[in-house]
Amino acid sequence: MARVLTGIQSSGEPHLGNLLGAILPALELAEQHQESAFFFIADLHSLTSRKDAQSLQKSTYEVAAAWLACGLNTEKDLLYRQSDIPEVTELMWYLACFTPYGQLKKAHAFKEKSKNLGQVNAGLFTYPVLMAADILLYDAEIVPVGKDQKQHLEITRDLASRINHFFNESIFIIPEPHIREQVMTIPGIDGRKMSKTYNNYINVFWDEQRLRKQVFRIVTAPTPLEAPKDPDKCTVFHLYSLVATAEETEELRKKYLNGGFGFKDAKELLFGKILERFKEAREKYRYFIENPKEIDKIFQQSAERAREVAVKVLNRLRKALGFPPR
Ligand code: TRP
Repeated sequence: MARVLTGIQSSGEPHLGNLLGAILPALELAEQHQESAFFFIADLHSLTSRKDAQSLQKSTYEVAAAWLACGLNTEKDLLYRQSDIPEVTELMWYLACFTPYGQLKKAHAFKEKSKNLGQVNAGLFTYPVLMAADILLYDAEIVPVGKDQKQHLEITRDLASRINHFFNESIFIIPEPHIREQVMTIPGIDGRKMSKTYNNYINVFWDEQRLRKQVFRIVTAPTPLEAPKDPDKCTVFHLYSLVATAEETEELRKKYLNGGFGFKDAKELLFGKILERFKEAREKYRYFIENPKEIDKIFQQSAERAREVAVKVLNRLRKALGFPPR
C-alpha cells in the first residue's frame, strides 16, 4: 500500500503535451496502487503569479475536466482543490518555522524570478514550503513530478526528516519522488517543445473545427507532393507516432518514404487519429465542462476524504509542538 499524490498547476487549459507527459502517466501510476491516490489543483500556488478570479475558476474547471476525462477513477482516487483544505496553510506555517532561509534562497524557481526582485512576493519565496505541506499533510509516499520539481521534493524530504529528527519521532512520512526523467519531448506545431509559453500547443479538447485548424498549422518542409519525405524530420509524423499504435506509425512511415503522399494527407491522418484516440475523453470532457456541478461534487467529496487524513497528520505535529489536538 502506498499513497500516490501530486499537485496540478492550474495555469490554463491542459494540452496534448500535458496529457501524454504528465496526466496519463500519473493516472497509470495511481492505477498500479490500491491505496487511493490524491490529486489536487494547486490553486493556492497559482496565486503567487495570478490574481484573476475568473481565469482561476475557468482553468480550475478545465484542468479538473481534463483529469476526469482522461480516466481519473473517482471511486478510488481523490481530486480536490488545494484551497479547500484549510489545514494545508496551517501546516505550511509550522513547516516554515523549520525551514532555513538559505535553502529557500537557493531554490531554482525563486532564484530565476528573483532577478526581478520587485516582482517577487513572499508567496513565491515560500512556494516550496507550501508544496512540502501539500505532500506531508497526507502521508504521501510516491510523488510523480516533472524534472523541474526535483529540488522542491528534496526540500520536502529535508523538512520531514529535520522535524522527525527534532522530535525524535516519526511524525512525517518521507516521500519518494517519482521523477519523469526522460520527459517525452512533445513537439508543438512549430517543432519546438509544446508549451503554453510558445503558444504552439494542441488541445485535444477543442471543438473539431479549431482542432483541425491547429493541426493544419503544423509547420512542415517545402517538399513537393511526389517526393519521398523523411518521417523523422517531420513534426506531423512525430505527433502521429505519439497517438497512434506502432503498426499505424509504421504504415505512415512507408507512405512518407514512398513519396506521392503530401503533408496535407499526413495532417488529415493525424487529425483523424487524435479524434479517434481521444473520442471518449473528448465526450467526457464536454460533459464535465457543461456540468460543472458534477465537478463541484467530486471536489467536495474528495475534500472531505482528504481532510480526514489531514487532521490526523496535523495533530501528530500539533501534539509534538505543544498545541492541543483539533
Ligand atoms: N509545483 C508543482 C508544479 O509546478 C505543482 C505542485 C504543487 C505539486 N504542490 C505539489 C506537485 C505537491 C507535487 C506535489 O508542477
